[in-house]
Amino acid sequence: MKKQRIAILGAGPSGLAQLRAFEAAAKAGAEVPEIVCYEKQSDLGGMWNYTWRTGLDAHGEPVHGSMYRYLWSNGPKECLEFADYSFEEHFGRPIASYPPRAVLRDYIMGRMEKSDLRRCIRFNTAVQWVSYDEASAQFSVTVRDVKADELSTETFDYVVVATGHFSTPNTPHFEGLEQFPGRVLHAHDFRDACEFAGKDLLLVGSSYSAEDIGTQCHKYGAKSVTFSYRSAPMGYQWPDAFQEKPLLARLDDRTAHFVDGSRKEVDAIILCTGYQHHFPFLPDDLTLRTHNRLYPEHLYKGVFFIDNPKLIYLGMQDQYYTFNMFDAQAWYARDVILGRIRLPGKDAMEADSRQWVAREKTAKTPYQHIDFQAAYVRDLVGPTDYPAFDIEGMGELFKEWKRDKQADILGYRNKSYRSTLTGTLAPPHHTPWMEAMDDSLEAFLHGPPETEAPAKAPRKPHGATHRGAHKLSTRQQQAA
Ligand SMILES: Cc1cc2nc3c(=O)[nH]c(=O)nc-3n(C[C@H](O)[C@H](O)[C@H](O)COP(=O)(O)OP(=O)(O)OC[C@H]3O[C@@H](n4cnc5c(N)ncnc54)[C@H](O)[C@@H]3O)c2cc1C
Ligand SMILES: NC(=O)c1ccc[n+]([C@@H]2O[C@H](COP(=O)([O-])OP(=O)(O)OC[C@H]3O[C@@H](n4cnc5c(N)ncnc54)[C@H](OP(=O)(O)O)[C@@H]3O)[C@@H](O)[C@H]2O)c1
Repeated sequence: MKKQRIAILGAGPSGLAQLRAFEAAAKAGAEVPEIVCYEKQSDLGGMWNYTWRTGLDAHGEPVHGSMYRYLWSNGPKECLEFADYSFEEHFGRPIASYPPRAVLRDYIMGRMEKSDLRRCIRFNTAVQWVSYDEASAQFSVTVRDVKADELSTETFDYVVVATGHFSTPNTPHFEGLEQFPGRVLHAHDFRDACEFAGKDLLLVGSSYSAEDIGTQCHKYGAKSVTFSYRSAPMGYQWPDAFQEKPLLARLDDRTAHFVDGSRKEVDAIILCTGYQHHFPFLPDDLTLRTHNRLYPEHLYKGVFFIDNPKLIYLGMQDQYYTFNMFDAQAWYARDVILGRIRLPGKDAMEADSRQWVAREKTAKTPYQHIDFQAAYVRDLVGPTDYPAFDIEGMGELFKEWKRDKQADILGYRNKSYRSTLTGTLAPPHHTPWMEAMDDSLEAFLHGPPETEAPAKAPRKPHGATHRGAHKLSTRQQQAA
Protein backbone atom coordinates (compact mmCIF):
# COMPACT_ATOMS: atom_id res chain seq x y z
CA MET A 1 0.00 0.00 0.00
CA LYS A 2 1.17 3.52 -0.82
CA LYS A 3 2.58 5.35 2.17
CA GLN A 4 0.46 8.25 3.35
CA ARG A 5 2.03 11.70 3.02
CA ILE A 6 1.58 14.51 5.51
CA ALA A 7 2.49 18.17 5.10
CA ILE A 8 3.18 20.18 8.23
CA LEU A 9 3.13 23.91 7.62
CA GLY A 10 5.45 25.67 10.07
CA ALA A 11 8.25 24.47 12.36
CA GLY A 12 7.37 26.43 15.49
CA PRO A 13 6.42 24.65 18.73
CA SER A 14 3.16 23.34 17.19
CA GLY A 15 4.69 21.96 14.00
CA LEU A 16 7.56 20.49 16.00
CA ALA A 17 5.05 18.83 18.34
CA GLN A 18 3.55 17.08 15.32
CA LEU A 19 6.96 15.89 14.14
CA ARG A 20 7.81 14.70 17.62
CA ALA A 21 4.50 12.84 17.99
CA PHE A 22 5.21 10.79 14.86
CA GLU A 23 8.78 10.21 15.96
CA ALA A 24 7.56 8.81 19.29
CA ALA A 25 5.24 6.43 17.43
CA ALA A 26 8.01 5.35 15.06
CA LYS A 27 10.33 4.65 18.00
CA ALA A 28 7.62 2.47 19.51
CA GLY A 29 7.57 0.44 16.30
CA ALA A 30 4.67 1.99 14.39
CA GLU A 31 4.71 2.42 10.64
CA VAL A 32 4.47 6.19 10.18
CA PRO A 33 3.61 8.23 7.10
CA GLU A 34 6.09 10.24 5.08
CA ILE A 35 6.26 13.74 6.54
CA VAL A 36 7.37 16.99 4.97
CA CYS A 37 7.47 20.11 7.15
CA TYR A 38 7.67 23.44 5.33
CA GLU A 39 9.22 26.35 7.20
CA LYS A 40 9.77 29.75 5.70
CA GLN A 41 12.44 30.76 8.23
CA SER A 42 15.97 29.40 8.03
CA ASP A 43 15.67 27.57 11.37
CA LEU A 44 13.08 25.89 13.55
CA GLY A 45 11.65 27.50 16.70
CA GLY A 46 8.88 29.68 15.20
CA MET A 47 8.06 32.76 17.26
CA TRP A 48 10.98 32.03 19.58
CA ASN A 49 13.54 33.01 16.93
CA TYR A 50 14.37 36.66 17.45
CA THR A 51 14.72 38.80 14.37
CA TRP A 52 15.69 42.46 14.13
CA ARG A 53 13.69 42.65 10.92
CA THR A 54 10.23 44.13 10.64
CA GLY A 55 7.91 44.29 7.63
CA LEU A 56 9.25 41.96 4.95
CA ASP A 57 12.14 39.53 5.33
CA ALA A 58 15.15 39.24 3.03
CA HIS A 59 13.05 37.33 0.50
CA GLY A 60 9.95 39.53 0.51
CA GLU A 61 7.94 37.28 2.85
CA PRO A 62 6.14 38.87 5.83
CA VAL A 63 8.38 38.76 8.91
CA HIS A 64 6.92 36.16 11.26
CA GLY A 65 8.56 37.24 14.51
CA SER A 66 6.70 39.36 17.07
CA MET A 67 9.19 38.80 19.87
CA TYR A 68 11.51 41.53 21.02
CA ARG A 69 14.78 42.02 22.84
CA TYR A 70 14.65 41.53 26.61
CA LEU A 71 11.48 39.39 26.37
CA TRP A 72 11.11 37.15 29.40
CA SER A 73 8.51 34.45 29.72
CA ASN A 74 5.29 36.01 30.99
CA GLY A 75 4.18 32.78 32.66
CA PRO A 76 6.04 30.27 34.85
CA LYS A 77 8.07 27.81 32.81
CA GLU A 78 6.60 25.07 35.04
CA CYS A 79 3.31 25.60 33.16
CA LEU A 80 4.70 25.00 29.69
CA GLU A 81 6.97 22.03 30.37
CA PHE A 82 6.84 19.22 27.78
CA ALA A 83 5.60 16.08 29.54
CA ASP A 84 8.37 14.05 27.88
CA TYR A 85 11.25 16.50 28.41
CA SER A 86 11.60 18.49 31.62
CA PHE A 87 13.59 21.69 32.03
CA GLU A 88 15.77 19.84 34.51
CA GLU A 89 16.60 17.19 31.95
CA HIS A 90 17.50 19.86 29.42
CA PHE A 91 19.61 22.12 31.63
CA GLY A 92 20.93 19.42 33.92
CA ARG A 93 19.76 21.28 37.01
CA PRO A 94 16.83 23.34 38.23
CA ILE A 95 16.59 26.87 36.84
CA ALA A 96 14.48 29.88 37.83
CA SER A 97 10.80 30.04 36.88
CA TYR A 98 10.76 32.95 34.41
CA PRO A 99 13.45 32.52 31.77
CA PRO A 100 14.13 35.00 28.98
CA ARG A 101 13.35 34.11 25.36
CA ALA A 102 16.77 32.66 24.49
CA VAL A 103 16.55 30.15 27.34
CA LEU A 104 13.11 28.94 26.29
CA ARG A 105 14.29 28.71 22.69
CA ASP A 106 17.22 26.57 23.84
CA TYR A 107 14.77 24.27 25.62
CA ILE A 108 12.57 23.93 22.52
CA MET A 109 15.65 23.21 20.40
CA GLY A 110 16.98 20.69 22.90
CA ARG A 111 14.07 18.29 22.50
CA MET A 112 14.37 18.47 18.74
CA GLU A 113 18.11 18.03 18.59
CA LYS A 114 17.82 14.70 20.41
CA SER A 115 16.12 13.44 17.25
CA ASP A 116 17.03 13.62 13.59
CA LEU A 117 13.78 15.37 12.72
CA ARG A 118 15.52 18.27 11.01
CA ARG A 119 15.77 16.05 7.95
CA CYS A 120 11.97 16.29 7.59
CA ILE A 121 12.01 20.11 7.54
CA ARG A 122 12.43 22.10 4.36
CA PHE A 123 13.74 25.41 5.58
CA ASN A 124 13.52 28.67 3.61
CA THR A 125 10.34 27.31 2.05
CA ALA A 126 7.22 29.43 2.22
CA VAL A 127 3.83 27.83 1.65
CA GLN A 128 2.02 29.78 -1.06
CA TRP A 129 -1.15 27.83 -1.73
CA VAL A 130 -3.03 24.74 -0.60
CA SER A 131 -5.93 23.18 -2.48
CA TYR A 132 -7.97 20.04 -2.02
CA ASP A 133 -9.13 17.71 -4.76
CA GLU A 134 -12.30 15.80 -3.84
CA ALA A 135 -11.76 13.16 -6.53
CA SER A 136 -8.31 12.06 -5.38
CA ALA A 137 -8.92 13.09 -1.75
CA GLN A 138 -5.54 14.79 -1.81
CA PHE A 139 -4.15 18.20 -1.03
CA SER A 140 -1.78 20.03 -3.36
CA VAL A 141 0.69 22.22 -1.52
CA THR A 142 2.56 24.83 -3.53
CA VAL A 143 5.66 26.28 -1.92
CA ARG A 144 8.35 28.78 -2.81
CA ASP A 145 11.98 28.02 -2.16
CA VAL A 146 12.72 31.57 -1.10
CA LYS A 147 16.46 31.35 -1.78
CA ALA A 148 16.17 29.88 -5.27
CA ASP A 149 12.92 31.79 -5.87
CA GLU A 150 11.35 28.63 -7.32
CA LEU A 151 7.83 27.28 -6.96
CA SER A 152 7.04 23.59 -6.62
CA THR A 153 3.94 21.55 -5.79
CA GLU A 154 3.53 18.23 -4.02
CA THR A 155 0.49 16.23 -3.00
CA PHE A 156 -0.46 15.02 0.46
CA ASP A 157 -3.16 13.05 2.26
CA TYR A 158 -3.21 15.36 5.30
CA VAL A 159 -2.21 18.96 5.89
CA VAL A 160 -1.35 20.22 9.37
CA VAL A 161 -1.50 24.01 9.61
CA ALA A 162 0.90 25.11 12.34
CA THR A 163 1.71 28.62 11.15
CA GLY A 164 0.83 30.37 14.42
CA HIS A 165 -1.57 33.26 14.95
CA PHE A 166 0.44 36.03 16.57
CA SER A 167 2.09 37.46 13.46
CA THR A 168 -0.45 39.39 11.44
CA PRO A 169 -1.25 42.56 13.39
CA ASN A 170 -4.74 43.79 14.12
CA THR A 171 -4.22 47.49 13.55
CA PRO A 172 -7.16 49.81 14.25
CA HIS A 173 -7.17 53.40 13.08
CA PHE A 174 -7.55 56.41 15.36
CA GLU A 175 -8.28 59.91 14.12
CA GLY A 176 -5.17 62.05 13.97
CA LEU A 177 -2.64 59.20 13.64
CA GLU A 178 -1.60 60.51 10.22
CA GLN A 179 -0.44 63.80 11.75
CA PHE A 180 1.05 62.39 14.94
CA PRO A 181 4.66 63.68 15.04
CA GLY A 182 6.21 60.68 16.86
CA ARG A 183 6.68 56.96 16.20
CA VAL A 184 3.55 54.83 15.72
CA LEU A 185 3.94 51.07 15.54
CA HIS A 186 2.17 47.81 16.28
CA ALA A 187 3.51 45.45 18.95
CA HIS A 188 4.48 43.06 16.11
CA ASP A 189 7.15 45.58 15.06
CA PHE A 190 8.38 46.45 18.56
CA ARG A 191 11.98 45.32 19.01
CA ASP A 192 13.94 47.34 21.55
CA ALA A 193 12.63 49.18 24.60
CA CYS A 194 15.76 51.35 24.78
CA GLU A 195 14.39 53.30 21.82
CA PHE A 196 11.74 54.72 24.14
CA ALA A 197 13.95 55.75 27.08
CA GLY A 198 12.94 59.18 28.37
CA LYS A 199 9.69 59.17 26.37
CA ASP A 200 6.03 59.45 27.31
CA LEU A 201 4.47 56.36 25.78
CA LEU A 202 0.89 55.52 24.88
CA LEU A 203 0.02 51.83 24.55
CA VAL A 204 -3.40 50.97 23.15
CA GLY A 205 -4.68 47.60 24.41
CA SER A 206 -5.02 45.97 27.80
CA SER A 207 -3.75 42.46 27.37
CA TYR A 208 -0.39 40.67 27.53
CA SER A 209 1.45 42.71 24.89
CA ALA A 210 0.42 46.03 26.43
CA GLU A 211 1.34 44.88 29.92
CA ASP A 212 4.67 43.36 28.91
CA ILE A 213 5.85 46.05 26.50
CA GLY A 214 4.71 48.74 28.94
CA THR A 215 6.53 47.26 31.92
CA GLN A 216 9.58 46.58 29.82
CA CYS A 217 9.77 50.14 28.48
CA HIS A 218 9.49 51.34 32.07
CA LYS A 219 12.34 49.02 33.05
CA TYR A 220 14.54 50.41 30.27
CA GLY A 221 13.88 54.05 31.10
CA ALA A 222 10.61 55.28 29.56
CA LYS A 223 9.44 58.46 31.31
CA SER A 224 5.79 57.40 31.56
CA VAL A 225 3.52 54.66 30.27
CA THR A 226 -0.17 55.30 29.56
CA PHE A 227 -2.37 52.33 28.70
CA SER A 228 -5.64 52.84 26.84
CA TYR A 229 -8.24 50.10 27.17
CA ARG A 230 -11.30 49.28 25.06
CA SER A 231 -13.17 46.89 27.35
CA ALA A 232 -11.60 47.01 30.79
CA PRO A 233 -8.42 48.25 32.48
CA MET A 234 -5.83 45.70 33.55
CA GLY A 235 -6.27 46.97 37.09
CA TYR A 236 -2.85 46.19 38.51
CA GLN A 237 -1.40 48.29 41.32
CA TRP A 238 0.68 50.35 38.94
CA PRO A 239 3.60 52.45 40.19
CA ASP A 240 3.32 56.21 39.62
CA ALA A 241 4.90 56.16 36.16
CA PHE A 242 1.90 54.22 34.81
CA GLN A 243 -1.73 55.14 34.26
CA GLU A 244 -4.72 53.46 32.63
CA LYS A 245 -7.14 55.43 30.50
CA PRO A 246 -10.24 54.41 28.59
CA LEU A 247 -10.16 54.15 24.81
CA LEU A 248 -8.25 56.64 22.72
CA ALA A 249 -10.75 58.89 20.91
CA ARG A 250 -8.40 60.95 18.71
CA LEU A 251 -5.00 62.57 18.48
CA ASP A 252 -4.38 66.23 18.10
CA ASP A 253 -0.69 66.66 17.31
CA ARG A 254 1.02 65.08 20.39
CA THR A 255 -2.11 65.20 22.52
CA ALA A 256 -4.04 61.97 22.99
CA HIS A 257 -7.72 62.52 23.82
CA PHE A 258 -9.56 59.69 25.56
CA VAL A 259 -13.28 58.94 25.52
CA ASP A 260 -13.72 60.15 29.11
CA GLY A 261 -12.53 63.62 28.04
CA SER A 262 -9.10 63.32 29.65
CA ARG A 263 -5.91 63.89 27.67
CA LYS A 264 -2.19 63.21 27.74
CA GLU A 265 0.82 64.49 25.75
CA VAL A 266 2.70 61.51 24.32
CA ASP A 267 5.88 60.99 22.26
CA ALA A 268 5.20 57.55 20.77
CA ILE A 269 2.28 55.16 20.32
CA ILE A 270 2.40 51.37 20.35
CA LEU A 271 -0.73 49.56 19.23
CA CYS A 272 -0.90 46.45 21.40
CA THR A 273 -4.17 45.52 19.79
CA GLY A 274 -3.63 41.83 19.14
CA TYR A 275 -3.34 39.71 16.03
CA GLN A 276 -5.44 38.21 13.25
CA HIS A 277 -5.67 34.56 12.32
CA HIS A 278 -4.39 34.88 8.78
CA PHE A 279 -3.96 32.08 6.26
CA PRO A 280 -3.24 33.70 2.88
CA PHE A 281 -2.26 30.28 1.48
CA LEU A 282 -5.71 28.73 1.99
CA PRO A 283 -8.84 28.92 -0.16
CA ASP A 284 -12.06 30.20 1.44
CA ASP A 285 -13.54 26.77 2.05
CA LEU A 286 -10.50 25.59 4.04
CA THR A 287 -9.88 28.77 6.02
CA LEU A 288 -10.39 28.86 9.77
CA ARG A 289 -12.13 32.11 10.65
CA THR A 290 -11.85 33.01 14.28
CA HIS A 291 -10.63 35.59 16.71
CA ASN A 292 -8.28 34.87 19.61
CA ARG A 293 -10.43 32.63 21.82
CA LEU A 294 -10.12 29.48 23.87
CA TYR A 295 -12.25 27.33 21.56
CA PRO A 296 -12.30 28.44 17.91
CA GLU A 297 -15.48 27.36 16.13
CA HIS A 298 -15.51 24.85 13.24
CA LEU A 299 -12.84 22.66 14.81
CA TYR A 300 -13.41 19.21 16.29
CA LYS A 301 -11.24 18.62 19.36
CA GLY A 302 -9.92 22.11 18.70
CA VAL A 303 -7.88 20.80 15.76
CA PHE A 304 -9.80 19.02 12.98
CA PHE A 305 -11.43 21.32 10.44
CA ILE A 306 -14.93 19.91 10.52
CA ASP A 307 -15.71 20.54 6.84
CA ASN A 308 -12.60 18.56 5.90
CA PRO A 309 -11.01 16.83 8.90
CA LYS A 310 -7.94 15.86 6.88
CA LEU A 311 -7.03 19.50 7.38
CA ILE A 312 -5.68 19.91 10.91
CA TYR A 313 -5.00 23.17 12.72
CA LEU A 314 -2.63 23.18 15.69
CA GLY A 315 -2.22 25.91 18.29
CA MET A 316 -5.02 28.17 17.08
CA GLN A 317 -6.46 28.74 20.58
CA ASP A 318 -5.85 31.64 22.91
CA GLN A 319 -3.21 30.19 25.16
CA TYR A 320 -2.68 29.60 28.82
CA TYR A 321 -1.20 26.17 28.18
CA THR A 322 1.25 26.29 25.29
CA PHE A 323 3.94 23.71 24.52
CA ASN A 324 2.26 20.80 26.29
CA MET A 325 -1.14 21.70 24.81
CA PHE A 326 0.39 21.67 21.31
CA ASP A 327 1.84 18.25 22.14
CA ALA A 328 -1.56 16.99 23.31
CA GLN A 329 -3.13 18.20 20.07
CA ALA A 330 -0.37 16.70 17.95
CA TRP A 331 -0.52 13.30 19.66
CA TYR A 332 -4.29 13.18 19.14
CA ALA A 333 -4.01 14.23 15.48
CA ARG A 334 -1.28 11.62 14.96
CA ASP A 335 -3.49 8.87 16.38
CA VAL A 336 -6.34 9.83 14.08
CA ILE A 337 -3.98 9.78 11.08
CA LEU A 338 -2.59 6.40 12.17
CA GLY A 339 -6.13 5.03 12.48
CA ARG A 340 -5.83 4.49 16.23
CA ILE A 341 -8.69 6.90 16.91
CA ARG A 342 -11.72 7.09 14.65
CA LEU A 343 -13.34 10.44 14.04
CA PRO A 344 -17.11 10.47 14.50
CA GLY A 345 -19.44 11.67 11.73
CA LYS A 346 -19.80 15.34 10.86
CA ASP A 347 -22.96 15.86 12.96
CA ALA A 348 -21.31 14.39 16.03
CA MET A 349 -18.18 16.51 15.51
CA GLU A 350 -20.31 19.64 15.18
CA ALA A 351 -22.29 18.78 18.31
CA ASP A 352 -19.12 18.16 20.29
CA SER A 353 -17.58 21.42 19.10
CA ARG A 354 -20.78 23.35 19.90
CA GLN A 355 -20.76 21.96 23.40
CA TRP A 356 -17.18 23.22 23.99
CA VAL A 357 -17.99 26.61 22.47
CA ALA A 358 -21.03 26.92 24.76
CA ARG A 359 -18.93 25.87 27.74
CA GLU A 360 -16.31 28.51 26.85
CA LYS A 361 -19.04 31.16 26.94
CA THR A 362 -19.96 30.24 30.52
CA ALA A 363 -16.35 30.72 31.64
CA LYS A 364 -16.15 34.34 32.75
CA THR A 365 -13.19 34.69 35.09
CA PRO A 366 -9.49 33.98 34.46
CA TYR A 367 -9.64 30.99 36.84
CA GLN A 368 -12.58 29.59 34.89
CA HIS A 369 -10.67 30.12 31.64
CA ILE A 370 -7.73 28.20 33.06
CA ASP A 371 -10.03 25.37 34.20
CA PHE A 372 -11.63 25.34 30.76
CA GLN A 373 -8.32 24.95 28.96
CA ALA A 374 -7.18 22.33 31.47
CA ALA A 375 -10.35 20.32 30.73
CA TYR A 376 -9.69 20.68 27.01
CA VAL A 377 -6.11 19.41 27.32
CA ARG A 378 -7.28 16.58 29.60
CA ASP A 379 -9.85 15.55 26.97
CA LEU A 380 -7.11 15.31 24.33
CA VAL A 381 -4.50 13.53 26.40
CA GLY A 382 -6.84 10.80 27.70
CA PRO A 383 -6.99 8.57 24.61
CA THR A 384 -3.33 8.90 23.51
CA ASP A 385 -0.03 7.67 24.91
CA TYR A 386 1.29 11.20 25.53
CA PRO A 387 3.03 10.85 28.92
CA ALA A 388 0.67 11.57 31.81
CA PHE A 389 1.25 14.98 33.36
CA ASP A 390 -0.51 16.92 36.07
CA ILE A 391 -2.66 19.17 33.88
CA GLU A 392 -4.84 20.40 36.73
CA GLY A 393 -1.77 20.90 38.93
CA MET A 394 -0.38 23.18 36.23
CA GLY A 395 -3.75 24.95 36.23
CA GLU A 396 -3.25 25.68 39.92
CA LEU A 397 0.18 27.13 39.09
CA PHE A 398 -1.47 29.39 36.52
CA LYS A 399 -3.84 30.61 39.25
CA GLU A 400 -0.90 31.23 41.60
CA TRP A 401 0.76 33.18 38.76
CA LYS A 402 -2.38 35.30 38.37
CA ARG A 403 -2.36 36.07 42.09
CA ASP A 404 1.35 36.88 42.02
CA LYS A 405 0.80 39.34 39.17
CA GLN A 406 -2.07 40.94 41.01
CA ALA A 407 0.11 41.38 44.09
CA ASP A 408 3.14 42.81 42.27
CA ILE A 409 3.11 43.43 38.54
CA LEU A 410 6.79 44.43 38.43
CA GLY A 411 7.92 41.72 40.83
CA TYR A 412 5.98 38.57 39.94
CA ARG A 413 8.83 37.25 37.81
CA ASN A 414 10.93 36.91 40.97
CA LYS A 415 8.65 34.12 42.21
CA SER A 416 9.40 30.39 42.12
CA TYR A 417 7.07 27.50 41.33
CA ARG A 418 7.31 23.75 41.75
CA SER A 419 7.59 21.59 38.62
CA THR A 420 4.71 19.14 38.40
CA LEU A 421 7.02 16.83 36.45
CA THR A 422 10.06 16.66 38.70
CA GLY A 423 8.63 17.93 41.99
CA THR A 424 11.50 20.45 42.21
CA LEU A 425 10.87 23.97 43.47
CA ALA A 426 12.66 26.38 41.12
CA PRO A 427 15.57 28.26 42.68
CA PRO A 428 15.18 32.03 42.88
CA HIS A 429 16.82 33.92 40.04
CA HIS A 430 20.16 35.53 40.90
CA THR A 431 18.86 39.02 40.02
CA PRO A 432 15.41 40.58 40.51
CA TRP A 433 13.69 40.97 37.14
CA MET A 434 13.64 44.76 37.32
CA GLU A 435 17.43 44.78 37.67
CA ALA A 436 18.15 41.97 35.20
CA MET A 437 18.99 44.00 32.10
CA ASP A 438 20.89 41.29 30.22
CA ASP A 439 18.47 38.75 28.77
CA SER A 440 21.09 36.40 27.31
CA LEU A 441 21.11 32.69 28.08
CA GLU A 442 24.59 33.05 29.57
CA ALA A 443 23.60 35.82 31.98
CA PHE A 444 20.47 33.94 33.03
CA LEU A 445 22.25 30.67 33.68
CA HIS A 446 25.53 31.93 35.03
CA GLY A 447 24.89 35.37 36.50
CA PRO A 448 26.02 38.83 35.45
CA PRO A 449 29.48 38.67 33.81
CA GLU A 450 31.22 41.13 36.16
CA THR A 451 30.53 39.03 39.25
CA GLU A 452 30.26 35.56 37.79
CA ALA A 453 32.98 35.37 35.14
CA PRO A 454 34.95 32.50 36.71
CA ALA A 455 31.87 30.29 36.97
CA LYS A 456 30.90 30.70 33.32
CA ALA A 457 30.88 27.28 31.70
CA PRO A 458 31.25 27.06 27.92
CA ARG A 459 27.94 26.67 26.08
CA LYS A 460 27.35 23.31 24.54
CA PRO A 461 25.73 23.31 21.14
CA HIS A 462 22.02 22.44 20.97
CA GLY A 463 21.51 18.76 21.32
CA ALA A 464 24.56 18.04 23.38
CA THR A 465 23.26 16.60 26.58
CA HIS A 466 22.88 19.48 28.95
CA ARG A 467 23.05 17.39 32.08
CA GLY A 468 25.59 19.12 34.25
CA ALA A 469 26.65 21.42 31.43
CA HIS A 470 25.59 24.58 33.23
CA LYS A 471 27.39 25.00 36.50
CA LEU A 472 25.69 26.80 39.34
CA SER A 473 27.03 30.31 39.81
CA THR A 474 28.30 31.35 43.21
CA ARG A 475 25.18 33.36 43.85
CA GLN A 476 22.91 30.57 42.67
CA GLN A 477 24.69 28.19 45.03
CA GLN A 478 24.13 30.62 47.85
CA ALA A 479 20.48 30.98 46.88
CA ALA A 480 19.96 27.24 46.64
C1 LIG B 1 5.29 38.56 21.86
C2 LIG B 1 4.91 37.14 22.21
C3 LIG B 1 5.37 36.58 23.39
C4 LIG B 1 5.01 35.29 23.75
N1 LIG B 1 5.47 34.80 24.94
C5 LIG B 1 5.13 33.56 25.32
C6 LIG B 1 5.58 33.03 26.57
O1 LIG B 1 6.24 33.71 27.35
N2 LIG B 1 5.27 31.76 26.88
C7 LIG B 1 4.54 30.98 26.02
O2 LIG B 1 4.31 29.82 26.34
N3 LIG B 1 4.07 31.47 24.86
C8 LIG B 1 4.34 32.74 24.49
N4 LIG B 1 3.87 33.24 23.30
C9 LIG B 1 2.99 32.41 22.47
C10 LIG B 1 3.77 31.72 21.31
O3 LIG B 1 3.15 32.12 20.15
C11 LIG B 1 3.77 30.23 21.50
O4 LIG B 1 4.62 29.92 22.61
C12 LIG B 1 4.30 29.43 20.32
O5 LIG B 1 5.37 30.07 19.67
C13 LIG B 1 3.22 29.09 19.31
O6 LIG B 1 3.75 28.09 18.49
P1 LIG B 1 3.21 27.82 17.01
O7 LIG B 1 4.11 26.78 16.45
O8 LIG B 1 1.77 27.55 17.06
O9 LIG B 1 3.40 29.19 16.23
P2 LIG B 1 4.73 29.99 15.91
O10 LIG B 1 5.72 29.87 17.01
O11 LIG B 1 4.27 31.33 15.52
O12 LIG B 1 5.35 29.23 14.65
C14 LIG B 1 4.74 29.23 13.39
C15 LIG B 1 5.78 28.87 12.33
O13 LIG B 1 5.14 28.82 11.04
C16 LIG B 1 6.01 29.43 10.09
N5 LIG B 1 5.20 29.92 8.97
C17 LIG B 1 4.22 30.86 9.00
N6 LIG B 1 3.70 31.03 7.77
C18 LIG B 1 4.36 30.18 6.96
C19 LIG B 1 4.26 29.88 5.56
N7 LIG B 1 3.38 30.50 4.76
N8 LIG B 1 5.10 28.96 5.05
C20 LIG B 1 6.00 28.31 5.84
N9 LIG B 1 6.13 28.55 7.16
C21 LIG B 1 5.31 29.47 7.71
C22 LIG B 1 6.67 30.55 10.87
O14 LIG B 1 7.87 30.99 10.24
C23 LIG B 1 6.90 29.90 12.22
O15 LIG B 1 8.15 29.24 12.27
C24 LIG B 1 4.20 34.53 22.90
C25 LIG B 1 3.75 35.09 21.70
C26 LIG B 1 4.09 36.38 21.36
C27 LIG B 1 3.58 36.97 20.09
N1 LIG C 1 6.54 38.28 27.54
C1 LIG C 1 5.64 37.53 27.02
O1 LIG C 1 5.68 36.38 27.27
C2 LIG C 1 4.55 38.08 26.13
C3 LIG C 1 4.53 39.40 25.77
C4 LIG C 1 3.55 39.85 24.89
C5 LIG C 1 2.61 38.97 24.37
N2 LIG C 1 2.66 37.67 24.74
C6 LIG C 1 1.70 36.71 24.18
O2 LIG C 1 1.25 37.16 22.93
C7 LIG C 1 -0.09 36.75 22.73
C8 LIG C 1 -0.92 37.90 22.20
O3 LIG C 1 -1.14 38.88 23.21
P1 LIG C 1 -1.70 40.32 22.80
O4 LIG C 1 -1.80 41.12 24.02
O5 LIG C 1 -0.89 40.85 21.67
O6 LIG C 1 -3.13 40.02 22.15
P2 LIG C 1 -4.53 39.69 22.87
O7 LIG C 1 -4.31 38.97 24.12
O8 LIG C 1 -5.38 39.08 21.83
O9 LIG C 1 -5.13 41.13 23.27
C9 LIG C 1 -5.50 42.08 22.32
C10 LIG C 1 -5.79 43.40 23.02
O10 LIG C 1 -6.05 44.37 22.01
C11 LIG C 1 -7.25 45.05 22.35
N3 LIG C 1 -7.89 45.51 21.11
C12 LIG C 1 -8.20 44.80 20.00
N4 LIG C 1 -8.77 45.60 19.07
C13 LIG C 1 -8.81 46.83 19.61
C14 LIG C 1 -9.30 48.08 19.13
N5 LIG C 1 -9.84 48.20 17.93
N6 LIG C 1 -9.18 49.14 19.96
C15 LIG C 1 -8.64 49.03 21.18
N7 LIG C 1 -8.16 47.87 21.69
C16 LIG C 1 -8.26 46.79 20.90
C17 LIG C 1 -8.08 44.02 23.07
O11 LIG C 1 -9.06 44.67 23.81
P3 LIG C 1 -10.42 43.96 24.29
O12 LIG C 1 -10.07 43.39 25.63
O13 LIG C 1 -11.38 45.05 24.35
O14 LIG C 1 -10.76 42.92 23.27
C18 LIG C 1 -7.01 43.37 23.93
O15 LIG C 1 -6.74 44.14 25.08
C19 LIG C 1 -0.56 36.16 24.05
O16 LIG C 1 -0.57 34.76 23.96
C20 LIG C 1 0.50 36.57 25.05
O17 LIG C 1 0.71 35.63 26.08
C21 LIG C 1 3.59 37.23 25.63
